[in-house]
Amino acid sequence: MSSSAPLVDQFQRRITYLRLSVTDRCDLRCAYCMPERMTFLPRKEVLSLEELHDLALGFIARGITKIRLTGGEPLVRRDMIELVHALGRKLGNGLEELTLTTNGTRLAEFAEDLFAAGVRRVNVSLDTLDREKFARLSRRDSLPQVLEGLAAAKAAGLKVKLNTVALKGVNEDEIADLVAWAHGQHFDATLIEVMPLGEIEEDRFDHYLPLAVVQERLSGQWTMTPSAHRTGGPARYWDVVETGGRLGLITPLTNNFCEGCNRIRVTATGQLYACLGGNERVDLRAALRSGDPEGELSRALDVAMRIKPARHNFAIEKPGAAPALSRHMSTTGG
Ligand code: GTP
Ligand code: 5AD
Ligand code: SF4
Repeated sequence: MSSSAPLVDQFQRRITYLRLSVTDRCDLRCAYCMPERMTFLPRKEVLSLEELHDLALGFIARGITKIRLTGGEPLVRRDMIELVHALGRKLGNGLEELTLTTNGTRLAEFAEDLFAAGVRRVNVSLDTLDREKFARLSRRDSLPQVLEGLAAAKAAGLKVKLNTVALKGVNEDEIADLVAWAHGQHFDATLIEVMPLGEIEEDRFDHYLPLAVVQERLSGQWTMTPSAHRTGGPARYWDVVETGGRLGLITPLTNNFCEGCNRIRVTATGQLYACLGGNERVDLRAALRSGDPEGELSRALDVAMRIKPARHNFAIEKPGAAPALSRHMSTTGG
């Protein structure tokens, strides 16, 4: 028999937010995220559309109210929009928010469809507004498409939040301009500390920029007041008086937020990772392909609640250190 009990972990944290990766593939190759020659999974290992749908319904039955579709880049998966339409039918019926995190390259094509399916908010990654820098950092000359995508999202009525990874010596001089530009577009802006996940060509230590440093610099030029605004994710927000916009800070390294964690992640192959920064996992694909998918799935979720760790323990403290985990952000879905 399957349970409808809410998901609560051993530290009494209520889990209501699922980050569901629909593909590990991406059309960019951001240097802080993955190596230029990234190895992607064989397609046959990835869950089918039906499996992703069944999985999401199983989670909603256990009290998940927010689903964020992630990747890699979710919009490179061909049947992704069908999944969004199917899950959109659960909005107001268990599901409160259906959203996605995207690099924006294909948003121009999908923005209207996303809105029609019930998506109201998207998070778009953008680390620079300089075309050459974008091309160097992401190893693809795609800034014009991303800007088109952002404009299309706005025109379609989607609220946009920009995600910017703060990188020493790469975009640090541009952060204030990028935030001011976002606010001028009526987008929220969020800065993120780079995390030591997966091997890349560079040493992340060289580009790691603690957000306390950025905040100090920004508050030299702007009046920043703490905001009570919450989106259910780890960002803590500030209102910027001069721009009239909101700035979120995501500080996994300098200000751990795990105590309030409300989320779990599922990879495109159906592996549930209880924490972005840990290896604790449960195989949901096996559950889905068993003789009693509903029951097995529900039992697997109970196991996940027992193994979810208190916090991640990754840090960037010295040059030359191996990544804390071999798994890239693009595999776990951010
Ligand atoms: P909102 O719904 O807008 O709050 O989004 P979100 O911040 O939950 O999602 P998004 O995909 O925009 O994530 C922004 C960044 O936060 C990504 O780099 C994520 O990897 C990171 N992030 C999200 N949750 C966690 C977490 O639990 N731990 C850590 N270390 N990073 C996280
Ligand atoms: N550290 C921090 N953020 C990362 N992202 C990808 N890899 C990393 C990393 N190693 C960001 C992307 C995107 C979000 C989902 O995660 O830029 O905004
Ligand atoms: Fe792709 Fe996102 Fe990784 Fe960039 S950060 S390579 S857009 S998955």
